[in-house]
Parts: sequence; structure tokens; C-alpha cells
Amino acid sequence: MQAIISIDGLSKTYDGGFKALDNVSLEIDRGEIFALLGPNGAGKTTLINVVCGIVNGTAGTVTVDGHDIGSEYRHTRAMIGLVPQEMPTESFETVWNTCRFSRGLFGKPASPEHLEKVLRSLSLWDKKDTISMQLSGGMKRRVLIAKALAHEPEVLFLDEPTAGVDVELRQDMWNVVSKLREQGVTVILTTHYIEEAEQLADRVGVINHGEIILIEEKDKLMRDLGKKQLVLNLPTALAEIPSQLASYHLELSDDRHDLTYTYDTKRERTGITALLGELNAAGIHFNDLQTSQTSLEEIFVDLVKKDQ
Ligand SMILES: Nc1ncnc2c1ncn2[C@@H]1O[C@H](COP(=O)(O)OP(=O)(O)O)[C@@H](O)[C@H]1O
Ligand SMILES: [Mg+2]
Repeated sequence: MQAIISIDGLSKTYDGGFKALDNVSLEIDRGEIFALLGPNGAGKTTLINVVCGIVNGTAGTVTVDGHDIGSEYRHTRAMIGLVPQEMPTESFETVWNTCRFSRGLFGKPASPEHLEKVLRSLSLWDKKDTISMQLSGGMKRRVLIAKALAHEPEVLFLDEPTAGVDVELRQDMWNVVSKLREQGVTVILTTHYIEEAEQLADRVGVINHGEIILIEEKDKLMRDLGKKQLVLNLPTALAEIPSQLASYHLELSDDRHDLTYTYDTKRERTGITALLGELNAAGIHFNDLQTSQTSLEEIFVDLVKKDQ
């Protein structure tokens, strides 16, 4: 299956010399939900803005459905809906007109049915005749999403869609994204919220200092998440792990005072009881034990730290 977005060797150096993207290559599959995670200043918005034609890349190529974003800008831009991170200038138009005009701008014939469906899905139907400017912050966000969906894009970019929004809007947005996925729309979202990536994404990419440092299936990351560790503190240093304990794949710390056992919480048995029995039989005693669980958050923080 051909990727819907192909980014190849993309770099962006802003005027003034700051390199915001460094040789980024990324393929987004048709119909997937891709979460781009990264700390502030990592280059997430820059990447989205390049694909949407708002910022020009310095090197590399980007295609949307096989069309080059430079030479076929109008075509590729019309395939994309963008919910920007920053609120654009306040609109004096009604919610309905804001969406209607946006649809027209991309050359799509009028479709009141489609607009109604979009506004209803975002709990905006009763606000359709309200001037956007007079709405609350959360409602304005909804309008931005509705506007981005007005022309039935095949790809939707959501740049930090839930930063600072209330729980209700977050839930609505997640529902909208799930529905879009059912319709085959590709969704790329950037987020700080690991939970959001966990909830929604098929794949997760981590970006730091303008470089993609990890791309992984969310399920695989969640499987890693399911791993827990049991650390046993030994009063006396252990020279080596006895061979009869080999099947537990224990790790001995450098100071030989900690034994670490990693187990999968999703398995029926953790093996801890059996392990403790065998340790006892081998004459290995411990003072204390701790368990810990690695989370996507930790994996993320760890990756970003390693990359400093
Ligand atoms: N127009 C610009 N001119 C110069 N530097 C910029 C510009 N826009 C963004 N940057 C810099 O590029 C880096 C990446 O920014 P951005 O893509 O907004 O990151 P993110 O969205 O991940 O927070 C930041 O260090 C930012 O200061
Ligand atoms: Mg940003």
C-alpha cells in the first residue's frame, strides 16, 4: 500500500540559521492515526507547516498521495485539513459561514449535509449562527476543527489539539478522531499528552531537536509498557547468578547487590512465587524488594534525555 504522506530527507533551517528539522524521513500510512510526540521546540509544528505548505523546507521532498507539495501545492493542500496550534485571527463570521467559506476555498461544492454532520459531531450545531468571536475558548477550538473538516480532507493534522482544553472537548475530539478513522481519514496529531497517544494512535513517532528518534507501533510500545520489574536487594554481594536460575533471565547489578527480574504483567503467571522459592533453595537471601513499571512516559523521557 502506498503511503499517503512520504517525507524524505526533509530539513528546515529558519532565517537566522536555526535548524528546526534535520533530515526527517517518515511515511504515513493511509488511514492510520499517527501521534508525533516531542518536547517543546522539537520541530513538530515546523514539520506540519512544511507538509501544509505554510513553511518551505530547505532540503528534501514531501509528497501527499504521490503529489509533490511544491509543484502541486493546490492539489495537496486541498487534501489536507489543518487544525493549527495557534488560534488564528478572530472571525466576525458565524460558525456556519466560517465552515462554508473554508469548504469553498478548497473548491468543493456546497454541502449543507456535510457541514451539519461535522457541526453536530463537535457539539456545535446549536452555535451555528453565532459569531465565532463571541464563543468561549473551547468552542473556538471546536470551530477550528469543524473548519478543518469542512472540505472533507483525506488527511487531518491536529497540532496539539488538546493542550489546555477541558475534558469534555478532549473526549469529543477523541470521538471525532475515532469516527474519522472509520471513514478512512488519516490523522496526524502532535501532543504532549502521552495518554492521548495511548488512546488514539496506531503508531507513535518521537521527535527531538528536529530529528525523528523513534517510530513504533503503539501496541508494541504498550506491550513494553506491560513489562514490570522486580528488584531484589541482596545483603551480600552475589558473585554470579546460579545456573539453575537461568530461565528467569535475571540481571545482576554492577555492584552485585541488586537482582532484577523482568516479567510480563499480561501473562497469567508472573513467575515471582516460583522465583522466590528457587532463590531460597539456592541460598540467596534478600533484604528488600521493589517493583516498578516502565511507562510510555518514561520511555519517552528516557529517549529524549539520551538524545541531548
Ligand atoms: N519562524 C521561525 N524562525 C526561527 N525559528 C523558528 C521559527 N519557528 C520556529 N522556530 C524554532 O524552531 C524550533 C522548532 O519549533 P516548532 O516546530 O514550533 O517546535 P514544536 O512544535 O515541536 O514545539 C524552535 O526552537 C523554534 O524556536
Ligand atoms: Mg508546536
